[in-house]
Amino acid sequence: TLIKEYRKKQAESKSRDRFWDVAGTKMGKVVGEPEKVDENDAAVAPDTDASGELANFKATSQFATHLEGGGAASARSEFTKKNSIAEQRKLLPVFGVRDALLQVIRENVVIVVVGETGSGKTTQLTQYLYEDGYASGSHMIGCTQPRRVAAVSVAKRVSEEMGVQLGKEVGYSIRFEDMTDSSETRIKYMTDGILLRETLKDPTLDKYRVVIMDEAHERSLNTDVLFGIMKRVLRSRLDFKLIVTSATMNADKFSQFFANVPIFHIPGRTFPVDTLYSRTPCEDYVDAAVKQALNIHLGSPPGDILIFLTGREEIECCCFQLQERLERVAKASAEAAATSAADPKSAVSSVPPLLVLPMYSQLPSDLQAKIFQPAPKGSRKCIVATNVAETSLTVDGIYYVIDTGYQKYKVYSAKMGMDSLQVYPSSQAAANQRSGRAGRTGPGTCYRLYTEHAFFHEMLESTVPEIQRTNLAQVVLLLKSLDVDNLLEFDFMDSPPQDILVSSMFNLWVLGALDCSGTLTSLGVALSEFPLDPPLAKLLVTSVEMGCSLEVLTIVSMLSVPQVFFRPSDRQEESDAAREKFYVPESDHLTLLHTYMTWKNNGCSSSWCDKHFIHGKGMQKAREVRAQLLEIMRQQKQQIRSVSGEDWDVIRRCICKSYHQHASRQKGVGEYVHVSTGAQAHLHPTSALYGLGYSPDYVVYHEVVMTSKEYMNHVTAVEPAWLAEFAPLFFTIKTEGMTRAVIRAKEAEIQEFMESEMARKGRKKGGGIVGG
Ligand code: CDP
Ligand code: MG
Repeated sequence: TLIKEYRKKQAESKSRDRFWDVAGTKMGKVVGEPEKVDENDAAVAPDTDASGELANFKATSQFATHLEGGGAASARSEFTKKNSIAEQRKLLPVFGVRDALLQVIRENVVIVVVGETGSGKTTQLTQYLYEDGYASGSHMIGCTQPRRVAAVSVAKRVSEEMGVQLGKEVGYSIRFEDMTDSSETRIKYMTDGILLRETLKDPTLDKYRVVIMDEAHERSLNTDVLFGIMKRVLRSRLDFKLIVTSATMNADKFSQFFANVPIFHIPGRTFPVDTLYSRTPCEDYVDAAVKQALNIHLGSPPGDILIFLTGREEIECCCFQLQERLERVAKASAEAAATSAADPKSAVSSVPPLLVLPMYSQLPSDLQAKIFQPAPKGSRKCIVATNVAETSLTVDGIYYVIDTGYQKYKVYSAKMGMDSLQVYPSSQAAANQRSGRAGRTGPGTCYRLYTEHAFFHEMLESTVPEIQRTNLAQVVLLLKSLDVDNLLEFDFMDSPPQDILVSSMFNLWVLGALDCSGTLTSLGVALSEFPLDPPLAKLLVTSVEMGCSLEVLTIVSMLSVPQVFFRPSDRQEESDAAREKFYVPESDHLTLLHTYMTWKNNGCSSSWCDKHFIHGKGMQKAREVRAQLLEIMRQQKQQIRSVSGEDWDVIRRCICKSYHQHASRQKGVGEYVHVSTGAQAHLHPTSALYGLGYSPDYVVYHEVVMTSKEYMNHVTAVEPAWLAEFAPLFFTIKTEGMTRAVIRAKEAEIQEFMESEMARKGRKKGGGIVGG
């Protein structure tokens, strides 16, 4: 019936807009010449390079017809654009069940709400609860999101819907950015990590009358930990309600976790989506995605395109290629038209404009907001996104999805004690979510750039929960601070694998945050107060002892914001030269400090940033982060001092002392091995250490990232004697030959600790083991 209704609506809209025929736009990057073109012309693909790809796909459902004929999809009226915000709210599926839903909430303490993405869970539930009086008195309605981007964008949207200023009645809070007002905020969107940290200060979450744990199906680490904590809150408060929302998967599991609480289904409003698989595996999925997008753009009826890729570099590369190829096609078609046209009226390019919009979490928020703006008339929108657009963000008007079938996962190797972010095939559940995005506004198409065989035989049924594959040091620290003594007995929905848990505890012991019996030390308490990875927090605490905290504060802040140096692909040499001016040869950490200080000395000016290929916004952000960390240190009554004179060696010693667990020894030029695990890693080509002209014997690194190979990110040269001095438990110094001092790791002691830890905690098995 939905399809019938939809078709009726189409038939009714007699004065439908002709898609390609309005020129000119100033929004975003528009490529191609917007000229007067007949609809028929638009369906011609003038470039052989971009066409002919469709043959590689096979249709798997009967809805494929509109691909050839246009048919249903060509008359897409854009309902949402024409309606006011209030009317849009009423069109959402959740609106139809508003009263029933509120009734179920009144009658229960915990409920699970399930609905297709885009049904209005995230934006409407909070408002319904508000309207039903759950924010009376000084109470708040909290809504957690696994992703920062989603928390911010949804809070903005809801403040618009309610007609209030963002940061007042409706606010958001993400790490290092609090847009709430303690006296006025009633609806608070936040990352799950923020709520988790709030339980440290307020274990029963008294500020909240209701908490919505949104996007629970994502199974993010923090949401999973919150599940267990919520059980404690529910036990201690009678006036508290918990709503868990989820896309269609996992609902039963959530319900069972809270002793079979009711599951409320929001009836879906989705249209059929054709799923087309690639006939052969594709070698370069970015290239294949670009081709497919051009094909759609040049050959298929109106409707926006959404491409799923794995990360920022890929997305930028894809956007660049799309623009470039389209410009080429436009040029070729204009030339062809000019030479062949007997009738000068037809001598125009037949390539309509395409608005190419990247979307990833580190993109500045003003650019992120663009994906929600409708494409100007006569143009088509193509969003190139990470899996942030899979369920957290819903964009209306998408009719075509291109799914490359991959995503980036953070995976922790307990053996190496190292996190790595790597590209893996996504899961079947994720792939189905992705295709679903094409059926929000009308029947759509999803192009899977992998074979049907790969879908059924190479993809996991669902994504492995983060808690089973990631470093748990920060979580362990937090749970220990909440007096959860035996972590193996904590109420996890899915227990983390024991080797990851033990390895994370071991790392905390190395830092001095836990003692030999696994109990939190006073240092551990101090570390848990920083919203930072424990080693970074340790760096701050160590800097107090060593009298260089003002400088280290800057370094830690710079490490907590996205990369500030930018390197545009058309001006690489120029930007590299600009960057080299900031290099402090022994240390990437000191390079960050130097950059920040120079920026400050130049009045924090944004024109200075532009001139030096530095992201001005990133620098501002670092300054805000710095102020917040400084505040925490003041509250801890730490002595905050600057180094005396210009003795930056003290800072290097401080970094060495806090990061000795990341000590690596030189093996070849730019090539290092971890002192105790023997794992290989390389200096990154952008490291300041290349400025030394030789590779220092020993370095400590901030982290290792895995791209084409293992690279150390942010490296500082250290003396072997420092390692022996600061970490005598782990290193002894030997002399090799005449002069060379060599550090030996004391494996035996470490082994001993790990074994005693295992024995202490018993050999209870964790869940499915991943990574390793
Ligand atoms: O949470 P769920 O996936 O069920 O839906 P939602 O995020 O509440 O989205 C409901 C509607 O709000 C969708 O039609 C979105 O397109 C729209 N929305 C928007 O226009 N701008 C935002 N920043 C967020 C949502
Ligand atoms: Mg949502």
